[in-house]
Amino acid sequence: MDSLHFGWEEWIGLPELGLPALKAKIDTGARTSALHAHDIEVFGPAAKPKVRFNVYPVAGQTQVQVTCSAPIKDRREVTSSNGESELRYVIETTLSVAGQSWPIEVTLTDRSGMTSRMLLGRQALQDHISITATEKRLQPDLSYDVYHSAAVRRAAPKRALRIAVLSREDNYSTNRLVEVGEARGHTVEVIDTTRCYMAINTMAPEVHYDGKRLPRYDAIVPRIGASITPYGTAVIRQFETIGTYCVNGSAGITASRDKLHAHQVLASKRIGMPTTAFAASPKDTGNLIGLVGAAPLIVKLLESTQGKGVVLAETKKAAESVIDAFRGLRANFLVQQFVKEAAGEDIRCLVIDGKVVASMKRTGAEGDFRSNLHRGGSAKTVRITKEERDTALRAARAFGLGKAGVDLLRSETGPKVLEVNSSPGFEGIEKATGKDIVGMLYDMIEARVKPQPVRKRKG
Ligand SMILES: Nc1ncnc2c1ncn2[C@@H]1O[C@H](COP(=O)(O)OP(=O)(O)OP(=O)(O)O)[C@@H](O)[C@H]1O
Ligand SMILES: [Mg+2]
Repeated sequence: MDSLHFGWEEWIGLPELGLPALKAKIDTGARTSALHAHDIEVFGPAAKPKVRFNVYPVAGQTQVQVTCSAPIKDRREVTSSNGESELRYVIETTLSVAGQSWPIEVTLTDRSGMTSRMLLGRQALQDHISITATEKRLQPDLSYDVYHSAAVRRAAPKRALRIAVLSREDNYSTNRLVEVGEARGHTVEVIDTTRCYMAINTMAPEVHYDGKRLPRYDAIVPRIGASITPYGTAVIRQFETIGTYCVNGSAGITASRDKLHAHQVLASKRIGMPTTAFAASPKDTGNLIGLVGAAPLIVKLLESTQGKGVVLAETKKAAESVIDAFRGLRANFLVQQFVKEAAGEDIRCLVIDGKVVASMKRTGAEGDFRSNLHRGGSAKTVRITKEERDTALRAARAFGLGKAGVDLLRSETGPKVLEVNSSPGFEGIEKATGKDIVGMLYDMIEARVKPQPVRKRKG
């Protein structure tokens, strides 16, 4: 390596941590280098632990923050210049200065008194470096501008993420999320949503679990069952408050889960759907049917899943008696135009990150107008039209969902959205299409957790 001349302060980069520009103080009194970090948390398997931490690369500007993760090399007792000793995590990373780079050891410390982001100790100052203690910035200048432009995203390295899947089930979808994530070097923790507890009235919103505060996650993948939607979305909101990236937000899950609310959202965005009506009073049965049109009609329990509460009424009389029966049970329901030409088939479009990544046609069992796989339906991959694709995308976007299963009926007047599912299962669609849907979900997560450029403060 060419010899380098350092003053008491130099611009350096730590590219493997996504920190392309930092000012470092040369500290020949210390052996190991130190990086000022926040929220230092250990994660991953005990045999191969990793550490996740946040760095404010620009002194005095806490809005510029880069999240880093690295394997832990060691834990070491370090005595700092003020004489206090502290047990610190040691990581190994690459130091880059003036086009040269070499590996260094860095300890992580969260000392509020530490004014420099970084101290370079003797171990990092190799033989080819000479130091003049009375001068500074003898090496090429770097700029903090990188953190204020898209360059910060390009500089972001591939790093191990800490991800929580909110799920109570040990099923195909949850298992695939764990397997695929771990194969990519991430740590995926499955959290039972109902075992999360939290204090809402604190200054620092936190989520607790099994007697401990849950750590900071890079991403939350909600897979919350319909029966616990209000509690599950409250847990997600808590994560949203602390700024954690959630693949699906609480508001979108809540709105899409409520059939009435969902239909209103779709209608407000002028997204095609079967004509739908609902009422609460028994006096309105006749008018309700009139609003939707003539029989045959579909009557649907609002809390229906897996096709269980979906009834086809062939005549007006049949529709009236189904409605009266549901009312007698105090059940909430809606009345919907029957899209006959769909002929027991619907199209499931899987939307990830604003793209339809897979679609399948589900065909109901012989003689059933319902195409639910749980009712003996079968699935086959299908080519969808541009109009169907646009409809699915707009439906997912209407609820702000990063991942969604959009169910469409093929009607004479174009695609009609039946439902937007915020926790689509992956088994049916991965098996029908042979696509690595979960892998695509991780592509989105990896892209989304990269640091965002922060707008520069004036003055
Ligand atoms: N208006 C309609 N016209 C024609 N077929 C319909 C209509 N509504 C539903 N179906 C058929 O019945 C199936 C089940 O309906 P839907 O998806 O609305 O209820 P669900 O599956 O019980 O509830 P969820 O999908 O919310 O879990 C659909 O997949 C579709 O094949
Ligand atoms: Mg359905």
